Amino acid sequence: MKPFEKLLFDNKEWAAKQVASDPDYFKRLVEIQSPEVLWIGCSDSRVPADKITDTQPGEIFVHRNVANLVVHTDLNLLSVLQFAVEVLHVKHIIVCGHYGCGGVKAALTNHSLGLIDKWLWNIKNVHRMYRDEIDSIEDEEQKLNKLIEINVKEQVMNLAKTSIVQKSWKANSSPDLHGWVYDLNDGIIRTIFDLPSGTHIDPIYEYDNL
Ligand code: CO
Repeated sequence: MKPFEKLLFDNKEWAAKQVASDPDYFKRLVEIQSPEVLWIGCSDSRVPADKITDTQPGEIFVHRNVANLVVHTDLNLLSVLQFAVEVLHVKHIIVCGHYGCGGVKAALTNHSLGLIDKWLWNIKNVHRMYRDEIDSIEDEEQKLNKLIEINVKEQVMNLAKTSIVQKSWKANSSPDLHGWVYDLNDGIIRTIFDLPSGTHIDPIYEYDNL
């Protein structure tokens, strides 16, 4: 069986198992989607959002990209964010990075990797903002993990800088923003940074007409 065929095979087994233990499982899910959480995570195959949080279909709305970035020109991320905030009314948005992230690791080097350089450029900008703090760490792994943590914090800040989030903070006092880092070594998520709804950020980025 080829890998893609195995996926289809396992899917049938899984669906049958769900119905066996809960006959209305799919019927319930078809009728409504009301997740309270938007998850913005890394595309890394070892960090599946629902698996590591033991959540069920319907519980979290998910967007994943390389190194869990919130980029203000990314139409994909912004569309997910707008839908999650304005239509689903999620209560929480979580940016979850992970230690050992290959995207962040690549951004710490001076090697060109092709098109993805443009994406990783965003992480280099984070590195530049925290240059002293990061470059003072000699151990390569610790340096990488520090940039991973700071990157998560900056992506949470990037969420707060969007008019989508600011508008919702004003109108609904929601969502709260959270920055987490998942540890591949023990499967545990570390909380890094919280930004509750309504927090004042750098005035440069605060809109006054929303
Ligand atoms: Co990663």
